[in-house]
Amino acid sequence: MRVVIQENYDKMSKWTANYIAKKINDHKEDRPFVLGLPTGSSPIGVYEELARMNKAGEVSFANVVTFNMDEYVGLPREHDQSYWYFMHYYFFDHLVDMKPENINILNGLAEDPEAECARYEAKIASYGGIDLFMGGIGVDGHLAFNEPFTSLTSRTGLRTLTTDTRIVNSRFFDNDPEKVPAYALSVGIGTVTDAKEVIILINGHNKANALAKTVEGNVSQKWTCSALQMHPAAIIACDESACDELTVGAYKYFLDVEKNERL
Ligand code: GLP
Repeated sequence: MRVVIQENYDKMSKWTANYIAKKINDHKEDRPFVLGLPTGSSPIGVYEELARMNKAGEVSFANVVTFNMDEYVGLPREHDQSYWYFMHYYFFDHLVDMKPENINILNGLAEDPEAECARYEAKIASYGGIDLFMGGIGVDGHLAFNEPFTSLTSRTGLRTLTTDTRIVNSRFFDNDPEKVPAYALSVGIGTVTDAKEVIILINGHNKANALAKTVEGNVSQKWTCSALQMHPAAIIACDESACDELTVGAYKYFLDVEKNERL
């Protein structure tokens, strides 16, 4: 696992956007580059930078297919807290050459959620899998909506949100946890770790415990993010304040090995 420690959120975002743009630009195959994407406040800076690069002609999304991690159950697309809305508002609407038919987001209004999730997995497989999955994590270490105690081999499916997550996410729902949908559709931990590469954004002091558990904790379904330790090419892109609970030895090690690292 690589842990790329940047001084602040802005630098973490720019580093990650550059990394993703380089992967897209280096992709010379005929088949599209398949990119997994998250919502949340963590990736907004990456989306802004990628959109800027796209407008400046530094990266094209014409041959990119995207799959989002998750979606609330019960919110229509037009709801300003749906992840469909979020993705268009913060990212897709700002790209000059993203093809709408290449955007995949789970349908939280599907009559048969299990069938919708099976369709999603099959569609990912039809492209030959995900090349690069970008993600974020919750303060309890959830990856996508894979809450504590979700199987580390889980596939896309219906998830029940924990009270903790509904409280944390209530900041977008009038600070009322009851207004936060109780269920979501989410890719599984296995879906994420099947990707050829995974890059997880972790920023801010409130994620310090989750970062430490991801990097130094035991591999455990209690901290679903810890499954990344089993991935052959996982990167944690983080800022200084998210490192507050790493051991000094680990912190120094990651700074040292990344000193001469190229993108
Ligand atoms: C939600 C999403 C996660 C995301 C998490 C963290 O719960 N389902 O995919 O990683 O929020 O969000 P933030 O980046 O705002 O801390």
